[in-house]
Amino acid sequence: MCGIIGYIGSRQATPILIGGLRKLEYRGYDSAGVSVYSEGTSRVVRCRGKLANLEEKLTREPAAGTIGIGHTRWATHGRPSDENSHPHKVGPISVIHNGIIENHLALRQELQASGSHFASETDTEIFAHLVAAQLVQGAENLTAAVRRALQKVRGSYAFVVMSDKEPGTLVAAKNSSPLVVGLGEGENYVASDVTAILAETRKVIFIDEGELVTVTREAVVITDFEGKVKQREPKIITWSAVQAEKGGFKHFMLKEIHEQPRAVADTLVGRVDLENDDVLLDGIELDVKKFKRIIFVACGTSYHASMVGEFMIEALARIPVEVDLASEFRYRDPIVGPGDLVIAVSQSGETLDTMEAIREAKRKGASVLAISNVVESSIPRLADYSFYTHAGPEIGVASTKAFTTQLVAIALLAVHLGRRTGALSKERARVLLSELVQLPQKMTDIVDGAAQLQVLARRYGKAHGFLFLGRSSQYPIALEGALKLKEISYIHAEGYAAGEMKHGPIALIDEHLPVVVLVPKGPHYEKIVSNLAEVRARQGKVLAIATKGDNDIGSHADDVVLVPDTALELQPILTVLPLQLLSYYVADGKGTDVDQPRNLAKSVTVE
Ligand code: AGP
Repeated sequence: MCGIIGYIGSRQATPILIGGLRKLEYRGYDSAGVSVYSEGTSRVVRCRGKLANLEEKLTREPAAGTIGIGHTRWATHGRPSDENSHPHKVGPISVIHNGIIENHLALRQELQASGSHFASETDTEIFAHLVAAQLVQGAENLTAAVRRALQKVRGSYAFVVMSDKEPGTLVAAKNSSPLVVGLGEGENYVASDVTAILAETRKVIFIDEGELVTVTREAVVITDFEGKVKQREPKIITWSAVQAEKGGFKHFMLKEIHEQPRAVADTLVGRVDLENDDVLLDGIELDVKKFKRIIFVACGTSYHASMVGEFMIEALARIPVEVDLASEFRYRDPIVGPGDLVIAVSQSGETLDTMEAIREAKRKGASVLAISNVVESSIPRLADYSFYTHAGPEIGVASTKAFTTQLVAIALLAVHLGRRTGALSKERARVLLSELVQLPQKMTDIVDGAAQLQVLARRYGKAHGFLFLGRSSQYPIALEGALKLKEISYIHAEGYAAGEMKHGPIALIDEHLPVVVLVPKGPHYEKIVSNLAEVRARQGKVLAIATKGDNDIGSHADDVVLVPDTALELQPILTVLPLQLLSYYVADGKGTDVDQPRNLAKSVTVE
């Protein structure tokens, strides 16, 4: 998730741009830059690293002028570097961008074939080339050039474009990524986030999907992509700056729970090949015949994602999979070698135990694939292959959107492998890919029902302990639900394999112990229902997470939360959402520091 800001007025742009980007720093980024117009040309100043680096560079290379655009980059395509930083300038055109151009490879090849040269690895630079080309081909103004260039682009984006040939205009366009216009007196702003411009104006216009906006010092004109003018009343923002950072949500964790449909959609972009019923791994070529075994190594929530991954890959690719806690693997003198593919799962890409585990695996000749949310972080840099989630920066210490996008990334990998081992038919792959692309809407349906979990949190939130039960790929979700609850509410919670309850935890059951049971439709449904009966026979309170359309479960549980159905292998991506919301509302009810729970760090870079 990148930060975007543009200014056009009579004041010097650079201080306003830098001030706005500083307000967006909380979101995390790896590079920053500005492009400011003055006396016939716009000057781009940009660099890898923090805003302080950019400010230092600006003292040596001042960017004067009263119209400009600024950007903080969260790398998705192309490593963090000066060249890959935004803005990108091609001819008279400067562009900044938040999102992912899905057809970037085809467009790059098409432009290169017609003689374009690229200075970066980014998908964004492609758009600068497209707009510049439209001007050369006779577009009557910048708005028209942007409109025509957009017709070639697929994916999620918020673009802001500036041209040396039309210095009184900023043009912006939105599809899936956020974009807002700020209104001033004789000056106007564009931004990815209200936070960036709240210090300058509280009068804003939110741009909708498929809209393009032309901003001058005196006017803001919104049109759709066909050029039809759209009217929109400005809104007055009453949020405080802190509230604005959280998009109006009370905590980052709640914001990030609600961001999951977008995060999953972004993680799917450019990887689902519906024409061939296949998955593209960003150009990664795995020698599937070489690997006789896959070993996941991870910690915490990423370990739970790995446990789900075992079910996905064994079911779809029929490759033997093991899952190991990184902190155990690294000290176990593991029997691992060239026939093994070790998959390191790490949101931060900086977890020391996981890093040391893959160093051990590499020492013993194994190949390593990293699944991470931070491009070019330490673990992907150590690995032989890297496959990124596109969740955007995750600020809350308790991992939510990183987890569900890890599950999506592993599901994509499992389909890719299954199509190559021959274990997965085209037909079955088609069903799975169709279900994958429906996940964002199904996740939206679940998080839109958050109020029910708020009620249940009030009902059960005073308990002194919780038990979470699940079978098969729902067992890791039981573990994850327990981890979420304990790490942010400080209430003890245990996740257990439902089949194991009778081997001990059943002694815990009484009327004071809420038991959260994952019981989606599937091959284990009847067995889980019998587990529920055992719990209720001992006065345990049962909260069941079941599948929409299940009209029987209500007679086996005290409370039921229903989630949409999906392919069996993908169910964990949906069943975890009510558990995230339950833990959030229980913790919020207790008044704990949900985003920064006691004793915890977002990235555990120590032993
Ligand atoms: C998740 O809610 C926890 N904050 C923690 O368990 C985390 O998943 C673990 O530290 C691993 O972090 P990583 O994914 O960045 O490697």
